Amino acid sequence: MTATAGGDGASDRSHWPVRRITLQEEGDPAVARRAKSSAGGAHLRMTDRQPHAGVPADDVLGPLCEAFADYPVMRYVLGAEGDYRERLRTLVGFFLTARVVRKDPILATYDGDEVSGVAICTLPGLPGPPDLDEAREWTWARLGSDARARYDQWIHIWGPLNAAEPNFHVNMLGVPPRYQGRGLGRTLLERVHAMSREHPDSRGVSLTTESAGNVPFYERLGYRIVGHGRIGPGLESWGFFRPD
Ligand SMILES: CC(C)(COP(=O)(O)OP(=O)(O)OC[C@H]1O[C@@H](n2cnc3c(N)ncnc32)[C@H](O)[C@@H]1OP(=O)(O)O)[C@@H](O)C(=O)NCCC(=O)NCCS
Repeated sequence: MTATAGGDGASDRSHWPVRRITLQEEGDPAVARRAKSSAGGAHLRMTDRQPHAGVPADDVLGPLCEAFADYPVMRYVLGAEGDYRERLRTLVGFFLTARVVRKDPILATYDGDEVSGVAICTLPGLPGPPDLDEAREWTWARLGSDARARYDQWIHIWGPLNAAEPNFHVNMLGVPPRYQGRGLGRTLLERVHAMSREHPDSRGVSLTTESAGNVPFYERLGYRIVGHGRIGPGLESWGFFRPD
């Protein structure tokens, strides 16, 4: 994403401060492999993309927003005020921007030209995100101080739930509802597991979920719970780690 976190229109995009990051169009070292939908039988292309090597990050923002539209953290942070859809794009756009500027991996499955599933990750052993102050201030100016306070509360609980050993951290895993249940979430995570195994410094894969319904999904894929916290009324977070 050259960070279209600011809405659908081109004029909005021009206000997104990280848009100036230039993505190369050529030389994408993408590793493509075939994945087959277990349900519809459609062939899906899976591509490992590094943002600096041509990721059309705009393509993944919409699908991530679809997948996370009803996710408990988004509802909690964004609250009831304003245009939820637009505020969701702003918040998810900010998360995505943090990964794009760090050149972290963004994995996407495709159904034809359409992105059908997305995983965004943080690599082990790199310094934290570069200065995101401008993007952060822009984001919270749009979303408001109440939303920021709720976000800070989430981060406060969420931080200690993460595994201590060097790991690949899955920041977001999202499959839009119409593609769910076809094995795409599993496919994306298995690719992250492989990347972790191939990385000299990584000991495994970590992630958190704030949806109780996802807990069996991760346990089935070999993750174990390493932490649990309560963020707010009816909102909990589980930390997971899957050793290589
Ligand atoms: C969670 C999510 C990524 C799963 O992706 P998906 O493509 O629908 O899942 P898959 O089809 O790959 O399922 C993989 C396996 O987990 C199982 N599974 C999926 N969701 C499950 C659930 N809620 N509970 C138990 N098992 C589940 C499937 O049956 C499947 O098992 P199998 O391979 O043995 O048949 C997707 O539903 C999603 O994006 N949800 C909304 C956003 C979200 O919650 N993201 C995760 C944030 S932590």
